[in-house]
Amino acid sequence: MTILVTGGAGFIGSNFVLDWLAQGDEPVVNLDALTYAGNLRNLASLQGDARHVFVHGDICDRALVDQLLAQHRPRAVVHFAAESHVDRSIHGPGAFVRTNVEGTFTLLEAARAHWGALQGEEKSAFRFLHVSTDEVYGSLAPDAPAFTEEHPYEPNSPYSASKAASDHLVRAWHHTYGLPVLTTNCSNNYGPFHFPEKLIPLLIVNALAGKPLPVYGDGRQIRDWLYVRDHCSGIRAVLAGGRVGQTYNIGGWNEQANIDIVQKVCALLDELRPDAAGPYARLVTHVADRPGHDRRYAIDARKLERELGWRPAETFDSGIRKTVQWYLDHPDWVAEVQSGAYREWLSTNYAAR
Ligand code: NAD
Ligand code: DAU
Repeated sequence: MTILVTGGAGFIGSNFVLDWLAQGDEPVVNLDALTYAGNLRNLASLQGDARHVFVHGDICDRALVDQLLAQHRPRAVVHFAAESHVDRSIHGPGAFVRTNVEGTFTLLEAARAHWGALQGEEKSAFRFLHVSTDEVYGSLAPDAPAFTEEHPYEPNSPYSASKAASDHLVRAWHHTYGLPVLTTNCSNNYGPFHFPEKLIPLLIVNALAGKPLPVYGDGRQIRDWLYVRDHCSGIRAVLAGGRVGQTYNIGGWNEQANIDIVQKVCALLDELRPDAAGPYARLVTHVADRPGHDRRYAIDARKLERELGWRPAETFDSGIRKTVQWYLDHPDWVAEVQSGAYREWLSTNYAAR
């Protein structure tokens, strides 16, 4: 048996592939276009491991996806590949529509053709698991209950709109064609291999370089943070036991305001890598807000717990400590991802704020 993972060189995908192969011997075919966010270095520990087959390619390439399905006959597709950064979607939404909508459509059509030709046990066991986000539900009022799977879709950014569109395609391919799909909607992840355009790794990398720590607006926006390996275990649980056609929220029961995250990261760095120039919080800089910035996300993950017994293993305190320590232990990884393209992005997003 084999699974086909898309986007397995990105942040969550690479954690998923590493965890998957640490837990069993079922091979992974990993299709990734290696955009700025994809990094084979994340998978360096798998070099020479025959259980991991890396394919450099685009999920919009139907012929390639058809060929991979025919050649490897995976029992499941686990679909991570996406453009994932909200700020980039504001500067350039086209890539988000292409990969997140057209790419998901291409995969669904290829999976439908492949699954349609399967027989017996192979056909009934096949799954298409679509990895999505809590951002499709929109923004919560301060006292509103957390998002359940029944919450209406109200995406507010080009990123979340493109993910919402992909969720709808997945749903329709089940409803209309019977494709055995599963969808997961997860809250904000953090952990190793997180690209430093996103808040937590950006804070760590900037603080260590003595650069400003940019806080959008008043910093009182709330996110619900989950350690990435807990997200991966949630996806494995849904793949193994999720009911076909259902969606499952995955979250850490860990709502925090951005400014509190900033203070915690600074305090950990003060403890683990004190700076002679003073506490890292001196670098906090409030900058212009993100246009259309969602104020609050919170995930109600009780369905996943009730049906499949999943709970996160990490608390925020344990997960953030591991994360900060990982960045301190991997200066080469950090240096490598800070390429010219990364510096260009920093100037696009922050220079005029
Ligand atoms: P990421 O940006 O770190 O990685 C995306 C990966 O997809 C990269 O390896 C990239 O090379 C690859 N990719 C992009 N376009 C591609 C294409 N056209 N064909 C093939 N590969 C392509 O993203 P991430 O943070 O790891 O997120 C993975 C998935 O999880 C996404 O679908 C995202 O929407 C979802 N998600 C992310 C979070 C989070 O906090 N990061 C939370 C919930 C859901
Ligand atoms: O909720 C799940 C989503 O979480 C995923 O679907 C996305 O792929 C992922 O990128 C993440 O989206 P966010 O926009 O919440 O993540 P980001 O790390 O970009 O920002 C987290 C919060 O911090 C958000 O309120 C914006 C704020 N922020 C971000 C950056 C990069 C700042 O204040 N300053 C910054 O420089």
